[in-house]
Amino acid sequence: MTDTIEVTIDAVGARGDGLARAPDGTALFVPFTVPGDRVRVRSGQARAGGAVAEVVELLAAGSERVAARCAHYADCGGCSLQHWSDAAVLEWKRGEVRAALAHRALETAVAPTLATPPGERRRARLAVRRDGDAIALGFRARASRRVVPVGRCPVLAPGLQMLLVPLREFASAMLRSDEEAQFELTQTEGGVDLVIERARRPGADVVSAAAAFARAHRLARVSWRADSAGDADLVVRQAAAEVVFGGVPVEIPAGAFIQASPAAEAALVGEVRAATAKARRVADLFAGCGAFTFPLALHARVHAVESNAAAVAAIAAAASGRSGVSVTAEVRDLERRPLMADELAKYDAVVLDPPRPGARAQAEALAKSAVRTVAYVSCDMGTFARDARLLVDGGYVLQRVVPVDQFLWSAHVELVGVFTKETRRR
Ligand SMILES: C[S@@+](CC[C@H](N)C(=O)[O-])C[C@H]1O[C@@H](n2cnc3c(N)ncnc32)[C@H](O)[C@@H]1O
Repeated sequence: MTDTIEVTIDAVGARGDGLARAPDGTALFVPFTVPGDRVRVRSGQARAGGAVAEVVELLAAGSERVAARCAHYADCGGCSLQHWSDAAVLEWKRGEVRAALAHRALETAVAPTLATPPGERRRARLAVRRDGDAIALGFRARASRRVVPVGRCPVLAPGLQMLLVPLREFASAMLRSDEEAQFELTQTEGGVDLVIERARRPGADVVSAAAAFARAHRLARVSWRADSAGDADLVVRQAAAEVVFGGVPVEIPAGAFIQASPAAEAALVGEVRAATAKARRVADLFAGCGAFTFPLALHARVHAVESNAAAVAAIAAAASGRSGVSVTAEVRDLERRPLMADELAKYDAVVLDPPRPGARAQAEALAKSAVRTVAYVSCDMGTFARDARLLVDGGYVLQRVVPVDQFLWSAHVELVGVFTKETRRR
């Protein structure tokens, strides 16, 4: 057995692990600790810049340590910060955003992190595995493929929570021993939209089990896809899988991106609308199914651009024939073919909300443009700061950044950054 050492946690690092120094100077990343904790740890796997260490004994608790809200905490990999007070986590997230900006020599006002409540996550990806007659349904363990069975999850919205137990029964009709699948659940107005991700195409038995399950639990739709990169095929449809954006119902494609929490979406939309309130022509880039498009269309003409053709079709169908909603939509890969300065000249404001790799090509093009306001929504502060640097070097002023705690009790941070440029264009 490896020796243990006693250390004090000095801070929490970017991935949410406590940071300490071993007596020999090695930096230690200690999961599930808070600043001020005195812990006995066993050092393990090397990690860039140091080593991961596991707590063997909590000797004295830091003042911000709290009891976890979930019985599965620490085994389930879904949450990693339940042991730290909510106020401390929110302030830590704000500090992480400041640090990411400072890393790119950017200074601006970073607002206090906007909190979101538990029990309202409307999208979840559950793993399910069968071993003999035993079905494990839940989330993967931290840094592992192991499925941790979860009966209750304080993060999930009630409509998803209610399905955890019935889904296990449905899984038993669907899986062979030693087989795994994923269930992707999205709460919509028409009921839960379920995507079954399993390598084997469903046979007649699974189709009829899915139909019975959908009827019994009032699901909107069940689809199947072989893997997360593939398109989903419809298995059963009972109701329109609609989500309402800016008062407009949008029938979302199976497995499409929507913001995970309605409260976080409302906070992001509020910030984006406030930043673009004076704009009359807005481009909504990386538009998804229109979470920003339709709220923006309450005060502006909006052009939505997105690479997912089904999402663009959903926006176009929702906008079609609605009086007072001036929305156009375009399928386009913005990494390969960003909107260039001549196209951008049509807009008073641009909203962009790229995936984690960010929007380098579009930021480079925006930097050369005369668009007055850019509202940049991001789920990755590192790529946000990289793109923000490009915009600032192109003459934009980063007016403010607002972090949003969309992914409760995890190290993820969502944010909105608002940029403006004074131009002599008009
Ligand atoms: C973080 S989501 C935001 C979606 C939407 N704004 C929302 O809030 O629901 C990012 C979106 O960018 C799209 N996307 C990813 N890569 C893209 C690319 N290269 N060009 C255009 N859109 C892309 C994805 O399909 C996804 O809908």
